[in-house]
Amino acid sequence: MLEKTYLLFFGPPGSGKGTQVDMLAKKLKLPVISTGEILRQEVERNTELGRKAKPIMAAGDLVPDKLLEAMVSQILKNKDAAKGVIFDGYPRTWKQLDFLISKFNNDNVYAFLIDVSDKEVIARLGGRRACDCGAVYHMKYNPPKNDERCDLCNKKLFIRSDDRKDVILERLKIYKKEINPLLNYWREKGKLIEINGEQSIDKVQSDIIAKLKGRSI
Ligand code: AP5
Repeated sequence: MLEKTYLLFFGPPGSGKGTQVDMLAKKLKLPVISTGEILRQEVERNTELGRKAKPIMAAGDLVPDKLLEAMVSQILKNKDAAKGVIFDGYPRTWKQLDFLISKFNNDNVYAFLIDVSDKEVIARLGGRRACDCGAVYHMKYNPPKNDERCDLCNKKLFIRSDDRKDVILERLKIYKKEINPLLNYWREKGKLIEINGEQSIDKVQSDIIAKLKGRSI
């Protein structure tokens, strides 16, 4: 049986994980688990999980590990995950990493770190616009064609509630507090691939593809 491929994307808020993962998923034909995106949909639909997550996300804190486990397990069982999955923003804590590893068998796993400075994070999140359909734009670096409307579905774009300066700083603080043990885990296994995120969107993508090709993925 062919090995499954799991790609994990790490990086500070606004480093471009979602942008890169969406581009890569189309090329590799792998499904994406973006816990942030799924949680935003739960909030939008006003589900029980969404109601619990809403104030936590608005404050820039992490949603409790346990609340995400059932969701991640379920998605991993889906048919379209048969060849593997690309993870955007999961795991973020040691407990989440432990849980995810328990789901892997002898699979192909690589972790990417998209690295950008704090200054860049603030510039990027300050100009980000999002759409209900999941598309993401930046008013300067990746603007929509039609003034603040989505190129894909023409809906009005919005500013995420956690893209306020004080919330961005809190998200950065939490990222820095939690991330090092996770990065070290993959680094020690020789599975951490570090990418300079302060390049154009296309150049970051081509660096990711080159690293994957070097590993025959
Ligand atoms: P989540 O949605 O995962 O937020 P995040 O990790 O903070 O990351 P972002 O989505 O803000 O940024 P990104 O790196 O995807 O960048 P993007 O591609 O959009 O999580 C939100 C919240 O949900 C969390 O705070 C937490 O509460 C909860 N949550 C989620 N997962 C959780 C978990 N596992 N455990 C517990 N809680 C969890 O790009 C940003 C902007 O920059 C865009 O405007 C884009 O167009 C632009 N851009 C992208 N790349 C470039 C480039 N190379 N050059 C110039 N501009 C660029």
